[in-house]
Amino acid sequence: MEGLTDRFGLNGKVALVIGASSGLGREAALAFASAGADVGLIARREERLLEVGASCSELGVRTANVAADVTHRNELTGAVADIDSQLGSVDILLYAAGIAPLKRAETHPDDKWEAAIQTNLNGAFYAAQIVGQQMIERATDPDVSWSGGRIIMISSIMGSHGNPVHRNIGYSASKGGLDNMVRQLAVEWGHYGITTNAVAPAYFKTEMTVDPSTGEIPAEMEERMRLFSPMGRIGEIGELDSSILFLASPASSYVNGVILPIDGGWSAW
Ligand SMILES: NC(=O)c1ccc[n+]([C@@H]2O[C@H](COP(=O)([O-])OP(=O)(O)OC[C@H]3O[C@@H](n4cnc5c(N)ncnc54)[C@H](OP(=O)(O)O)[C@@H]3O)[C@@H](O)[C@H]2O)c1
Repeated sequence: MEGLTDRFGLNGKVALVIGASSGLGREAALAFASAGADVGLIARREERLLEVGASCSELGVRTANVAADVTHRNELTGAVADIDSQLGSVDILLYAAGIAPLKRAETHPDDKWEAAIQTNLNGAFYAAQIVGQQMIERATDPDVSWSGGRIIMISSIMGSHGNPVHRNIGYSASKGGLDNMVRQLAVEWGHYGITTNAVAPAYFKTEMTVDPSTGEIPAEMEERMRLFSPMGRIGEIGELDSSILFLASPASSYVNGVILPIDGGWSAW
């Protein structure tokens, strides 16, 4: 269809993926590269970033990898500046960094709670602020050609619902905070042409959900994931990327402040 590539493609854009070394962030980085964006990659594990960067480069785009820990604002600021100097200003931010420490609520230790908040919420705030400030500068500079910015967070169904599969109260609280941060950013920055949205997945098979000793989701857990999903299954590779691509693309220019469930109907019960 004529114009489809212009509306849904990312040629000429710079996409930054934070939490790009594995799982859903890695998949999204490859999807951005497939759509023609140059891709900046941040996470702590440098060797993993090199692998993701090489896979993106094979798709014909430029890449830049910088290792950083999102819980340290200075590290993140330096990493984003480094990516900027290699690829140019960021047009699309995807924040995919996350951890999900487990322990039932009544004995959930402070360090697990704090780690979840620091990585899933504070890091997302630092990232949005660092990239958002640059976007606002570009949006308000009459000498810069500005076609709008995209900020996308990976939240979770746990941001808006209690969860019967995993006991991770700090994670749930962090994702609830993230959802409302998205709405607030959408309200404050929408008039600069910056859209801020989130995707809220149910379950996907990644390092976060598998048992590291087997590389598989434990059978009892997977059974419960299926039980609470109207579609009777978890998400598959490629079922999150398409929505992230839409939110990153020119086609979503009037979508702002949305928490989009990608959950097979989990949140429709
Ligand atoms: N998988 C699911 O079923 C599911 C469901 C709902 C939501 N989500 C969300 O999806 C996002 C991605 O998770 P995933 O499932 O893809 O898990 P994953 O494979 O474990 O990926 C997590 C990513 O976060 C990065 N990260 C964690 N702590 C970091 C830190 N302090 N500094 C920098 N990077 C950090 C990791 O990189 P390094 O370890 O290299 O730093 C990795 O790239 C998370 O926000 C998660 O909450 C996942």
